[in-house]
Amino acid sequence: MCGIVGYFGIKEAQTILIDGLRKLEYRGYDSAGVAIIDNGVLNVTKCKGRLANLEAELLETPLKGTVGIGHTRWATHGKPSDENSHPHTNEKGTISVVHNGIIENYIHLREWLMAKGYKFVSETDTEVVPHLIDFYYKGNIVEAVKKATAKMEGSYAIAVLCSDEPDKLIAVRKDSPLIVGLGENEFYVASDIPAVLNHTREVYLLEDNEFVVISNDGIKLEDIEGDIINKEVFHVTWDAAAAEKGGYEHFMIKEIHEQPKAIRDTMTSRIVLGQPITLDDINITKEQIKKLDKIYIVACGTAYHAGAVGKYVIEKLARIPVELDIASEFKYRDPIIDKNTLMIVISQSGETADTMSALRLAKEKGARVIAVTNVVGSAASREADDVLYTWAGPEIAVASTKAYATQLIAMYIIALFFAQNKETLSMDKIEEIKAAMLELPEKAEEMLKDKETIQKFTAKTYMHKDMFFIGRGLDYAVALEGSLKLKEVSYIHSDAYAAGELKHGAIALMEEGTIVIALATQEELFGKMVSNMRELSTRGAKVYAFAPKGHTEIEKSVHAVTYVPKVLDILAPVISVIPLQLLAYYMAIQKGCDVDKPRNLAKSVTVE
Ligand code: F6R
Repeated sequence: MCGIVGYFGIKEAQTILIDGLRKLEYRGYDSAGVAIIDNGVLNVTKCKGRLANLEAELLETPLKGTVGIGHTRWATHGKPSDENSHPHTNEKGTISVVHNGIIENYIHLREWLMAKGYKFVSETDTEVVPHLIDFYYKGNIVEAVKKATAKMEGSYAIAVLCSDEPDKLIAVRKDSPLIVGLGENEFYVASDIPAVLNHTREVYLLEDNEFVVISNDGIKLEDIEGDIINKEVFHVTWDAAAAEKGGYEHFMIKEIHEQPKAIRDTMTSRIVLGQPITLDDINITKEQIKKLDKIYIVACGTAYHAGAVGKYVIEKLARIPVELDIASEFKYRDPIIDKNTLMIVISQSGETADTMSALRLAKEKGARVIAVTNVVGSAASREADDVLYTWAGPEIAVASTKAYATQLIAMYIIALFFAQNKETLSMDKIEEIKAAMLELPEKAEEMLKDKETIQKFTAKTYMHKDMFFIGRGLDYAVALEGSLKLKEVSYIHSDAYAAGELKHGAIALMEEGTIVIALATQEELFGKMVSNMRELSTRGAKVYAFAPKGHTEIEKSVHAVTYVPKVLDILAPVISVIPLQLLAYYMAIQKGCDVDKPRNLAKSVTVE
């Protein structure tokens, strides 16, 4: 997920491009760059890091010209670095491209182009695009872009400049967003509407394979055959801040709604029916997996809660003992680690200080480390032996939601990968779980439709000072996450308990009106959970249950029930966490809390 912008007009492009990129920084901020044509010469400035770095460079050496393109990057192929930053150019520096998406056949195209003498300077998939356009360029840039896109597989929104035809800007999309802003004698292209809202409210919303050709003659939309496409102008009525959040009021709720996509993206090319699981950046061999006598999962906060699910599923499916550790405690307990130990660190940011020191300790003692992280080029991804990226896209809200969902998917993928290699499950069983996983995005969508029930609940309960979350087995792991989410964004005190443990102490806290959120998604444990809920209701607690659709018998034992779509028991956390995230969000809204930036918290905790 990156952001692209383009400008063609009468004003200096640099300021307009930077302004647009600032609005798109939420899409990624690993690097930024611009390319601007000045008197038939294409000048490029790009650098690693936040947009501010690029701005500082441009302040010192401004780029002149009124036609330009820009990019803000969220790294996928190739670590954040100056070389991997966009725009990318052909060798002569006459063709420049910004790209959002993934060119899936880039390895093939790269080899094909290299055989023809093309030289590459970055590790990115994008760099094939300017070379490919160069290959087809015979004096008509529009034709060359069309021929190049016909070779490209995957998703893309690209904007292209060519200094041999300095009065043209070309853009096209396939499976990645792209809009065109219409000004007076000036045009804009961008990944998202906020990037153009300071200049115009009239836009074209492009569909796949629609080519935008902007020149001194104006703007043309055409298909690959050159036939003109007539499109209605869309008038934007929202304000810029709302648009940046895709129309949502806060990043947290936007990211909660992005979960079906994030789940789907994380499974892409890894969970494919009828094909064994192969993992790109994981090189551990079958023999090494067979020799593993212990796995440590180490993480902090929400990532630790994903690890709690990981422990359960890896033990159940791959039959390897797993110890789960809070990263800040790990190294102080002198853990037993050797070369047959595997450590899995889970970290959205890949930079959390405690998680990194656990990783380094494990490496020092000879263990192999797999990093599950959302950030390409992060410390965890660089220092671990193997990496499994969660493709959640940038998570802006401090409270983690979509990253957690993708960390769960990563745990299932690793558990199945080990089970496949250790042959602890039959191929049929693995296929059955994979098929059920592929249904998760749809089930998550279904769950998200039920937010009104949660809103009503929060309107009635937000004044409470304490709440309890209970569950058994995997539901306990989700209860831990639900409780953390609630306290961090709404400041309501909450605790999570393994339901069977209540009678050993915490039940003393139950009194008339105490709010208990009870998860009962696990078929095998359902009966026991109902008994626990009844024990609490009898003592005056108001129990709000979450149970699979069809289990209406629970209604007699609790104050209210929300039904969740039925999925395989081991996959239930992916779905049952959604109402708990919504609950935390709406509680915070009711209380007027700053939901995206809760007090005292930071997105990335880089101190121990
Ligand atoms: C809670 C939350 C934190 C993080 C924790 C680890 O919503 O986001 O608990 O999960 O700080 O961060 P990462 O995953 O970046 O290591």
